[in-house]
Amino acid sequence: MAGALPWLIFAATLLLPTIKSSTASRMAKPGCRETCGNLTIPYPFGIGEGCFREGFDVSCENDTVYRHNSTTSGIQIYNINLLGGQATHSTFIASNCFYNKNNFNTGGWASLDTGEFFTVSSKANKLTAVGCNTLAFLVGSNEHSVGAGCFSKCTDKKSVDRSGQCSGMGCCQTSIAPNVFSSNITFDLRFNNSEFTKEFKDGVPTVLDWVAGNENCNEAVKNMSSYACIGKNSHCIESPNATGYLCTCNDGFAGNPYLEEGCQDIDECSFPDQYPCHGICSNMIGNYSCLCKSGTRSTDPKKETCNPVGVSERAKLIKVSIGISASAMLLLICIFVLLMECQKRKLRKEKKTFFQQNGGLLLYEQIMSKHVDTVRIFTREELENATNNFDSSRELGRGGHGTVYKGILKDSREVAIKRSKIMNVAEKDEFVQEMIILSQINHRNVVKLLGCCLEVEVPMLVYECIPNGSLFELMHGGYRKPHISLDARLRIAQESAEALAYLHSSASPPIIHGDVKSPNILLGENYTAKVTDFGASRMVATDEIQFMTLLQGTIGYLDPEYIQERQLTDKSDVYSFGVVLLELITRKFAIYSDGAGETKNLASSFLLAMKENSLQSILDQNILEFETELLQEVAQLAKCCLSMRGEERPLMTEVAEKLKTIRSRWREQLTQNPINETECLLENPSWHYHLSITGQHGSLMSLDLESGR
Ligand SMILES: *[C@@H]1O[C@H](CO)[C@@H](O)[C@H](O)[C@H]1NC(C)=O
Ligand SMILES: *[C@@H]1O[C@H](CO)[C@@H](O)[C@H](O)[C@H]1NC(C)=O
Ligand SMILES: *[C@@H]1O[C@H](CO)[C@@H](O)[C@H](O)[C@H]1NC(C)=O
Ligand SMILES: *[C@@H]1O[C@H](CO)[C@@H](O)[C@H](O)[C@H]1NC(C)=O
Ligand SMILES: *[C@@H]1O[C@H](CO)[C@@H](O)[C@H](O)[C@H]1NC(C)=O
Ligand SMILES: *[C@@H]1O[C@H](CO)[C@@H](O)[C@H](O)[C@H]1NC(C)=O
Ligand SMILES: *[C@@H]1O[C@H](CO)[C@@H](O)[C@H](O)[C@H]1NC(C)=O
Ligand SMILES: *[C@@H]1O[C@H](CO)[C@@H](O)[C@H](O)[C@H]1NC(C)=O
Ligand SMILES: *[C@@H]1O[C@H](CO)[C@@H](O)[C@H](O)[C@H]1NC(C)=O
Ligand SMILES: *[C@@H]1O[C@H](CO)[C@@H](O)[C@H](O)[C@H]1NC(C)=O
Ligand SMILES: *[C@@H]1O[C@H](CO)[C@@H](O)[C@H](O)[C@H]1NC(C)=O
Ligand SMILES: *[C@@H]1O[C@H](CO)[C@@H](O)[C@H](O)[C@H]1NC(C)=O
Repeated sequence: MAGALPWLIFAATLLLPTIKSSTASRMAKPGCRETCGNLTIPYPFGIGEGCFREGFDVSCENDTVYRHNSTTSGIQIYNINLLGGQATHSTFIASNCFYNKNNFNTGGWASLDTGEFFTVSSKANKLTAVGCNTLAFLVGSNEHSVGAGCFSKCTDKKSVDRSGQCSGMGCCQTSIAPNVFSSNITFDLRFNNSEFTKEFKDGVPTVLDWVAGNENCNEAVKNMSSYACIGKNSHCIESPNATGYLCTCNDGFAGNPYLEEGCQDIDECSFPDQYPCHGICSNMIGNYSCLCKSGTRSTDPKKETCNPVGVSERAKLIKVSIGISASAMLLLICIFVLLMECQKRKLRKEKKTFFQQNGGLLLYEQIMSKHVDTVRIFTREELENATNNFDSSRELGRGGHGTVYKGILKDSREVAIKRSKIMNVAEKDEFVQEMIILSQINHRNVVKLLGCCLEVEVPMLVYECIPNGSLFELMHGGYRKPHISLDARLRIAQESAEALAYLHSSASPPIIHGDVKSPNILLGENYTAKVTDFGASRMVATDEIQFMTLLQGTIGYLDPEYIQERQLTDKSDVYSFGVVLLELITRKFAIYSDGAGETKNLASSFLLAMKENSLQSILDQNILEFETELLQEVAQLAKCCLSMRGEERPLMTEVAEKLKTIRSRWREQLTQNPINETECLLENPSWHYHLSITGQHGSLMSLDLESGR
C-alpha cells in the first residue's frame, strides 16, 4: 500500500467514570427501559415516548445505543455520565485517501451537529490529525465562529508514531474551542502525499458536554414546567464545562437527581473508603456519625484513629479535674471568708453603735470618775456563751418586760442575766442610772449587780444568781405548802427591812425602791433575803421630789397616798413593805379571794380584822400556836406601816430596828423554852419547781419575775 491515508479524529482522551451508586436506585423513569446492552441509560436520557426529556431521546438497536435513531443520525453512544453532564459518542472520521480501497468515508470532510443541549467538550477532546504532510482544520461555531488547525509532516509511514501518544511524528493535536455545537473538519489538499493505513472502523469516540437547560440556575428554577431538578434532596448547579445547568443530589444523598425519588440517602457506613470512620459508625439521613468506643479517644474519629485513653492520661485527667475543683473550692472559701469578715465588721460597728446609744460612754465616764471597779462590762459573746445562746432551758423567769436567764460564766460562776424585750429612749436613760446606782450598792440583802452588756440593742444586766426563788414562791408556791418557821419569817422580814433601810438612808443618793413586793424579795443560800428589781428605783435628790406621770408598782402593794398624789416617797416603800409583812404572817396573797370567791385586798382585810379585834381569823394557822403576843407586835408594826398618811408611817430604819427587837426577843424565848419546831424549810427542797400555779392568782396578782435572780 503506497497511498497516503491522512485522517482526522475527535479523540476521547479521558476515561469517564461510571455512576457508582447506581446499583440501588433506578436510573430510568419508572416503566422505561433502563439498560441497552451493557449501558445504563439514565433519565433525562430515555428510550421511547415519555421516557426521555426533550432533546435526550436515544434508541437501542442490536444492544447498541444510538443518538435519536440509527437511521436518522447514525451516531452511536458509548457512555453516559449523568452527574458530570457528559456523553461519549461516535464521530465520523474525515479522511482524504488517494488509495481508497474499501474506505468508509471518502468525503475529505466530516461535519458534526451536536444538537440542542449538547456541545463538543473542550476539555475532553482534541483535534487530532494523523498522516504525513497533513494540514487539517476545524471550523465551527459556538456563540462565535471559531476555528483551529494542525499540521504534521513525515517522510514515510514508517516514521509515524504509533505508540498512541501523539508525539508530533506523523501526528498533530490541537485544542477545540469551548461550546462548539457544530463543526466541519477539512484538509488542505495541497498536502496530499501522505501515506496512511486505516485503523479506525466505526469512527472515533467524542465527548460531548450536555446540560439540562441552557439557562442558569436562577432562571431555570423560575420555570417550574421545564425545571429539571425535580428530585427530593436535589438541587441545581451551574455546569462548569458548558453554558447551562445540571442537577445534583444534596450531600449525603446519591442517585438520579432528575427523577422525583432519585436521590437516596447514602449509607455511609457501607462505604468506609469514601466515608471513613475509625470508631463506631452509624448512618443518619443525609449524614453519618462516628464516635469512639468508650475508653478510647480521638480528636476526629472520622479522620484519626481512636486511641485508648491511657492510664497516665486518665490520671492526668483526674488530676486536672481535681485541680479545677480544688481551686473552685478555694475561691468559694475565699468569698465565704470575705463575707464573714464583712458580716463581722458590720456586727462590730453595730455593737459600737449600740454601745454608744446605750450610754456606754457615759457609763464609762461614771465608772472612771467614781472609781467604781465593781461593775463589769460583758461582751455579747460572753453572755451568749454563758446562756448557751439564750436557750429556753436556761430561762429562770419571764415577765412583761423581758426574760431572766441563768448563765454560767467561764469561771463557772452562776449569774442571772436580765434581757429586756424593748426599751424606749427614756428607759435607756433610766438604765444607765440603774447601772450606776446598783453598782454602788453593797449590802448582803440586796441582789448584787455584777455588770452589764451594752453591745446589744437592748442592754442586758448581769446579777449574782440567787438560787432559791422568791419570797412569793416560798409563801405561795408549791402544791404542798411547806411549813415555814416563825423564826425564818421574822428573819426574812428583818433582812428585807434592813435592805430597804439601807437604800433609804445609807445609799448615796438615797434610793426609793418603788416596787416592794414579795416576788422582789429573793432568797439566797439559807434563805437569806435579797431585795431586787430596781427597775423603778430612782435617785432622789434631797431637795427634790420626783413627780411621776405613770403609776409604778403592783396592785395590792401600792401606797394609796402615792396613787392620789403621784408622789413616790420612801414612805411608799414602807407601805408596800407593810403588805409584805402581812403576807409573812397571814400567808395570803396581797389580793386574794376568800372562800366565797370574793376578791379582797389583804391590807384592807387586815386593817378591818385589827379594828374588829379578830386578828386570829386572818393569821396563818401554822404559826398561831406560837407566841400570840409576839404576833400581836408584828401586826401592830404592819398596821403602822399601812397608815393611810405617809408621815404617820415609821421610817424604814425604825421598822428594821423594831423587827430586830421582836426577833431577838423571840430567839431568847426559844432558848429558854425550846419548841420542837420542825424545820420544814429543808423538808421539801423542790418546792420552787412548782411554780406553775401562777394562773391561780388571777390577773390581779402579777407574778413579776423580772428580777435579778
Ligand atoms: C458487555 O461488556 C462485556 C465486558 O465488559 C463485553 O465482553 C461484552 O462484549 C459487552 N457486550 C456488549 C453487547 O457490548
Ligand atoms: C441489527 O442486526 C440485524 C441482523 O443481525 C441487521 O440486519 C441490522 O442491520 C442491524 N442493525 C444495525 C443498526 O446495525
Ligand atoms: C428511525 O426514524 C425513522 C423516521 O423518523 C423511522 O422511520 C425509523 O423506523 C426509525 N428507526 C428506528 C430503528 O427506530
Ligand atoms: C466537566 O469536564 C471535566 C473534564 O472533562 C469532567 O471531569 C467533568 O465530569 C465534567 N463535568 C462536570 C460537572 O464537572
Ligand atoms: C465542509 O467543507 C467542505 C469543503 O469546504 C464543503 O464542501 C462541505 O460542504 C462542508 N460541509 C458542511 C456540512 O458544511
Ligand atoms: C496529489 O498528489 C498526486 C500525486 O502525487 C498529484 O497527482 C495530485 O495532483 C496532487 N493533488 C493536489 C491537489 O495537489
Ligand atoms: C418554560 O418552559 C416551557 C417548556 O420548555 C417553555 O415553553 C416556556 O416558554 C418557558 N417559559 C419561560 C417563562 O421561560
Ligand atoms: C454531618 O454532620 C457533621 C457533624 O456531625 C457536620 O459537620 C456536617 O456538616 C453534616 N453534614 C451534612 C450534610 O449535614
Ligand atoms: C465560747 O465558748 C467556746 C467553747 O465553749 C470558746 O471556744 C469561746 O472562746 C467562747 N467565747 C467567748 C467569747 O468566751
Ligand atoms: C438553795 O439553792 C441551792 C442551789 O440550787 C441549793 O443547793 C440549796 O440547797 C438551796 N437551799 C435551800 C435552803 O433550799
Ligand atoms: C448557811 O448555813 C450554814 C450552816 O448553818 C453555814 O455554814 C453557811 O455558812 C451559811 N451560808 C451562808 C451564805 O450564810
Ligand atoms: C423534839 O422532837 C424530837 C423528835 O421529833 C425529839 O427527839 C426531841 O427530844 C424533841 N425535843 C424537845 C426539846 O422536845
